[in-house]
Amino acid sequence: MSRFWSKVVHNLTPYVPGEQPRLHNLVKLNTNENPYGPSPKVLEAIQAATADTLRLYPDPNADHLRAAIANFYGDQGIEPRQVFVGNGSDEVLALVFLALLKHEQPLLFPDITYSFYPVYCGLYGIDAELVPLDEDFQIRVQDYERPCGGIIFPNPNAPTGRWLTLAEIETLLKAHPDSPVVIDEAYVDFGGESAVGLVNRYPNLLVIHTLSKARSLAGLRMGFAIGHPELVEALDRVKNSFNSYPVDRLAMAGAMAAMEDRDYFERTRHAIMSSREQLVTDLESLGFEVLPSVANFIFARHPGRDALELSAALRARSIIVRHFKLPRIDQFLRITIGTPEQCGVLVDALKEILA
Ligand SMILES: Cc1ncc(COP(=O)(O)O)c(C=O)c1O
Repeated sequence: MSRFWSKVVHNLTPYVPGEQPRLHNLVKLNTNENPYGPSPKVLEAIQAATADTLRLYPDPNADHLRAAIANFYGDQGIEPRQVFVGNGSDEVLALVFLALLKHEQPLLFPDITYSFYPVYCGLYGIDAELVPLDEDFQIRVQDYERPCGGIIFPNPNAPTGRWLTLAEIETLLKAHPDSPVVIDEAYVDFGGESAVGLVNRYPNLLVIHTLSKARSLAGLRMGFAIGHPELVEALDRVKNSFNSYPVDRLAMAGAMAAMEDRDYFERTRHAIMSSREQLVTDLESLGFEVLPSVANFIFARHPGRDALELSAALRARSIIVRHFKLPRIDQFLRITIGTPEQCGVLVDALKEILA
């Protein structure tokens, strides 16, 4: 602590990201990165943008990128003015919490969810009410039927991987016409149903996406939100009061190419989905209980073995998975879906550990 700190800093509890160890030959299944690289077209676009023009500021409104994202969702009737882009969806979320989720009434989100949400509440002084997941670790939309200033959760949820159907999301939207409802779809492309198609019917709905997962661009930092133009205007107002240029020229070029390369996106996300099905089968045959998942990770526990000990034993074999020392979930491991080879290494190691 320093006497030079602003008062707010003393009381912050910052988010702790999954570790990024600098070890060779690591099977890294701890931060839900994509095991396949980005589309080769993304790399070409970034190389082409690596030019003298870097001396110029990028387009502060990222108009071409907003248009490319709107175009991807063209069959849902999305227009560029309904799209907001930012430096990773974490930045988009940071702006959303300030622009749309700070109200008199408390913000609602699940007790087990993306652990950045309570951090933003702490940063901005937003009053939050945690809504417990049911005993099967599922979000129950009826539990959100109470007065609130807004609702946010990931669909599929993290770190459980469990999801709500579009019908359930619509039930929630109908019950809360006067509150912003934010659905964080970071993992939706691995088998979930996106709510983007609902934004034209529900002006209170904002859907958030990232290019870190299904488009394999965690290192580029790109996220976006889709919603009614009035919601986007709120985000633009906050963004332009904070940083006019959150998306740089290289990220803009790479992200546009990623949105345009539908073939690569389809191929890689389906490869991950089929590895997931295989991994679930393999882990279940080792006695694990695996929650149903439509994400690029699974959440699993073994009835006879302590999760922290399992994760340490895996680490000793250079395999890292995520363990949360938190109530209700401290016996689970969150395991990112890797390539079939990586999943095979994991399963072989677990066989050895459990023997
Ligand atoms: C639910 C959820 N939302 C948002 C993010 C942030 O992703 P990024 O900032 O890389 O776009 C993550 C990252 O793991 C996540 O799990």
